[in-house]
Amino acid sequence: MLETLTRVPPDPILGVSAAFQADPSPEKVDLGVGVYKDEQGKTPVPRAVRTAEQEVYAAPGATILVSDPTWANHIPLLGTVGLKVDRYPYYDAQNPGVLFERMLAHLDAQPAGTIVVLHACCHNPTGQDLSAAQWAEVAAVVARRGLMPFMDLAYQGLGEDLDRDAASVRLMARAVPEMLVAVSCSKNFGIYRERTGLLIALSGNVERAGITTGHLGRLARTLWSMPPDHGAALVERVLSQPALRQEWMTELSHMASRINSLRGLLAERLGAVSGDDYRWIGAQRGMFSRLPLSATQVAFARDHHHLYMPPDGRINIAGVSPANVDRVAAGLIAAVRS
Ligand code: LMR
Repeated sequence: MLETLTRVPPDPILGVSAAFQADPSPEKVDLGVGVYKDEQGKTPVPRAVRTAEQEVYAAPGATILVSDPTWANHIPLLGTVGLKVDRYPYYDAQNPGVLFERMLAHLDAQPAGTIVVLHACCHNPTGQDLSAAQWAEVAAVVARRGLMPFMDLAYQGLGEDLDRDAASVRLMARAVPEMLVAVSCSKNFGIYRERTGLLIALSGNVERAGITTGHLGRLARTLWSMPPDHGAALVERVLSQPALRQEWMTELSHMASRINSLRGLLAERLGAVSGDDYRWIGAQRGMFSRLPLSATQVAFARDHHHLYMPPDGRINIAGVSPANVDRVAAGLIAAVRS
């Protein structure tokens, strides 16, 4: 097939640059691409532009905070847009739970405009969510300090249920004038490879909402122009047809209860094998829990027990089953003790 292609002429302008680069002659002169050059043939960046660049990086709002730990792809994703990424204390690995006082104090010390990424439910990678009372305290600090909440709702319906898993988003929306919510349909609609989801931007007033929508449209145009519609069309159909919607909600609810009963089962078996208390796994929510395993112990679990997980010890509870739970528990405890 490809042998039928014939050579196309070089781009009339960029082709000049390529030819210039390839010419070894010391006498070569580039009169091609229309960019300014100084006496040395360099294209200078004006001082004002350099200053502006520094100001953009140092401006309020240029810092984005993520929980420690957070989803492994948050920092690479956010880092690519030029924001300064930092962490707020979140998970107590020694004594599984949220380092709530430290988290709150950290947020309370941030300058206005700081963006704070919050896992709305089913914290990834720990499974450790805030209680309703803790969410209320976080929302109060976020509002008082003028921080910008950016809520990540990737597992709605897989923690408790669709309604309760979004309670934190509603609570935050009542407390602040502006917020962003990233919603994924990948997990709760089982269409992981369709990349279907949405971004909700809560704006202070109608005029700002219009301006924000314009910016989002422009970003979409430069990033993907027109998104594939397949996954979104499926989600729209499920949500808009009462019978399909009910069927989906019933299935999703079954998935959540199955995960939660597997949590209890795994916690009980880990406790039985080790004699230690693993009930905290049963109290966590969503797909994940994080075991106290080093990368070396994770490798041990893989090499000696065929158990596969990321190097931070995060396990997908949905990978456990009544049929494999004894093997999984024995292998995990062997890894903890290795
Ligand atoms: C995960 O954390 O495993 C999922 O969100 C899948 C992904 O894309 O990382």
